[in-house]
Amino acid sequence: MSFRLQPAPPARPNRCQLFGPGSNTKLFEKMAASAADVINLDLEDSVSPSDKDAARANVIKAINEVDWNTKYLAVRINGLDTPYWYKDVVDVLEQAGDRLDQIMIPKVGCAADVYAVDALVTAIEAAKGRAKRISFEVIIESAAGIAHVEEIAASSPRMAAMSLGAADFAASMGMQTTGIGGTQENYYMLHGDTRHYADPWHWAQTAIVAACRTHGILPVDGPFGDFSDDEGYRAQARRSATLGMVGKWAIHPKQIALANEVFTPSDEAVAEAREILAAMEDAKARGEGATVYKGRLVDIASIKQAEVIVRQSEMIAG
Ligand code: COA
Ligand code: MG
Repeated sequence: MSFRLQPAPPARPNRCQLFGPGSNTKLFEKMAASAADVINLDLEDSVSPSDKDAARANVIKAINEVDWNTKYLAVRINGLDTPYWYKDVVDVLEQAGDRLDQIMIPKVGCAADVYAVDALVTAIEAAKGRAKRISFEVIIESAAGIAHVEEIAASSPRMAAMSLGAADFAASMGMQTTGIGGTQENYYMLHGDTRHYADPWHWAQTAIVAACRTHGILPVDGPFGDFSDDEGYRAQARRSATLGMVGKWAIHPKQIALANEVFTPSDEAVAEAREILAAMEDAKARGEGATVYKGRLVDIASIKQAEVIVRQSEMIAG
């Protein structure tokens, strides 16, 4: 470890973030009753320009009136390139009560984007005497966002989570695809006549995970558009979990159970992690820093790997 210790991210489950358009009021109660850890009420791209004012009013009413129980409750505001975002922040924070936990800022391209929202939020919190400090989640979904991902992660003490937004990201990068996440038909290696499909989202995901882990932020995988494809969603989510992400969005209720399944460490994985910790305790008692577990090397680094799984499982259970 560096002399500067890696900060811990917020200790709350973030396995699934369920989105719903702020214009679709009939979804709010269903979202609150769902098994998602985080709720994202959307004012941005699932709301048409003619509905922006009505959606904002709906979302304020829903924050105040719906029983959100233990959900981590967030509103996705419009991007800083729109005429809507300042009103999203001002109206929501002036008129919605302290039940709101987080503001999600889309299409962040540099640290100054977060600074601008932070300044506005800080002024409103002080003016209104809001008791609870609002946290921020940002979406990395542009070339600028990924190029500046580390400065964005470091941009504000409010920063709590960061998601990859595959669709806008693909558009901004000029990628030739209309798919939202998952396997892309033309992204393969040839071995003889056999196509091996690689993961075009991999590098952006790992860049996000590294920036998040450096600054104590939760890294999250964004949307998977084809909500009829359960196996495709699972495969994408498993890759994200393997790379260190803690959860994934659901854009349809079908996807909630899939995310919770993948991002909750399995009983087998937790049992094995505990066995590794026990094997290392025995090794330590013998004065050894390395030992053999099921025919393979485990050493002091294995303790940290096993602890990631045990801690995640305990945090979710608790
Ligand atoms: N949250 C909670 N419940 C939802 C839901 C959501 N996001 N989306 C659909 N449902 C409900 C429906 O109301 C329906 O309920 P019912 O059985 O009581 O009638 C049930 O789930 C099945 O819905 P279905 O008919 O399959 O979908 P739909 O055609 O009504 O809606 C979408 C499909 C994609 C338009 C809708 O899921 C949606 O708006 N998703 C969120 C989009 C979004 O927020 N995008 C921004 C982030 S990328
Ligand atoms: Mg987007």
